[in-house]
Amino acid sequence: MPAKREVSADKFVFGCHRFGFGPAPGGGAVDLQRHVIPLVKMASELGIRAYDSAVLYRATLQLGQALQVLQLDPNSIRFQTKCLRYLGLTVGSSVEHQPEALLQGIPRRYHGLTDKWDASPKGVEQQICRERIEYGGDILHGVALHDPPDMEKQVGLNWDTDIRPAVSYLKEAKAAKFLKRIGLGIKEPAFVERFLAEEPGTLDYAGITFCPSILGPLMQIIKASEQQPFEVTLMGINYGQAFTLTEDPISAPPFLYNYEVATAEERALMSRFYRICGSTPLLHLAAAVAGLLVVHFPKTVTQIVTSTMTPSRLVETLRLVREAEVPATVWSELKAAELIPREFPTS
Ligand SMILES: NC(=O)c1ccc[n+]([C@@H]2O[C@H](COP(=O)([O-])OP(=O)(O)OC[C@H]3O[C@@H](n4cnc5c(N)ncnc54)[C@H](OP(=O)(O)O)[C@@H]3O)[C@@H](O)[C@H]2O)c1
Repeated sequence: MPAKREVSADKFVFGCHRFGFGPAPGGGAVDLQRHVIPLVKMASELGIRAYDSAVLYRATLQLGQALQVLQLDPNSIRFQTKCLRYLGLTVGSSVEHQPEALLQGIPRRYHGLTDKWDASPKGVEQQICRERIEYGGDILHGVALHDPPDMEKQVGLNWDTDIRPAVSYLKEAKAAKFLKRIGLGIKEPAFVERFLAEEPGTLDYAGITFCPSILGPLMQIIKASEQQPFEVTLMGINYGQAFTLTEDPISAPPFLYNYEVATAEERALMSRFYRICGSTPLLHLAAAVAGLLVVHFPKTVTQIVTSTMTPSRLVETLRLVREAEVPATVWSELKAAELIPREFPTS
């Protein structure tokens, strides 16, 4: 049977964060042989040629090692990563900003390190060079500024001293052909418009953590891409775990919503989705929405980043993005409840 939605393999990007954070299936630390290599092999067999990582993920070395073991030329993949956040020693007042749920399987070599910020041009240079060395290829397909809105909340952000010099260094590296595209990797869609206004003509791709509940702001971003062209990368499709729940989110055990433990308000919002979806799993809705975005906005929505530690799940996610069914009645109820924008194309 032909796929319901034509989403070619080159639209999928494998997200590497679990190679660092884990946990491995069944819990515990990530192991190169048992966990990383089978996933990179499966991604390759599925036709996935792009990988998304970050210094923060503690993951890129494992990717590089897996490519080497599998005898896959690093220059045959498109590798994109992120900067600003780096790993430093847990000394002084350093604080871990990642939720506990994301810190379960970190390989031993990264123990005793925690996430820190360095937006200086030399800091950015060190970060992206380390990434290039670890994955093993000649160039970086993209470098995104990683979570500047989080930086603003945690340690403050001054555009002139933090963002502008980092961007100008990345432009220099792009002009020298060490990197191909400059992007954002963010959890807050509104930051895209701020970046476009402050750094006109710079943005090649906006990576936004994604799920159907942010379709409203996403449609605005797609509109903005018509004025100042840039691509949109969907960084995940389940907002962490929010769209994988199989019980009413109002009373489910703690889960991640946009990579933080869901609040009462977020649980209530997810519960509205859950009740309207009825027998359609939330997971299917999220996959269908991602597929529809790629099909209807092919110039702008060019990448779906997905991640798992279970190879069969990667197969399943690609299938769901192409084939998951959402009944017409569910779409219309979601629209009537204003959970999905009315203008969103559902077929
Ligand atoms: N600020 C940023 O720049 C930013 C933030 C977040 C993410 N990202 C990027 O986006 C990538 C993807 O993030 P993500 O993996 O969190 O994406 P996601 O699509 O939001 O969520 C993946 C979750 O869905 C679950 N899942 C997938 N298929 C499933 C199935 N068939 N049944 C049940 N559960 C299923 C996974 O469980 P299992 O893993 O147990 O299979 C995992 O918990 C990251 O690796 C990273 O590259 C960037």
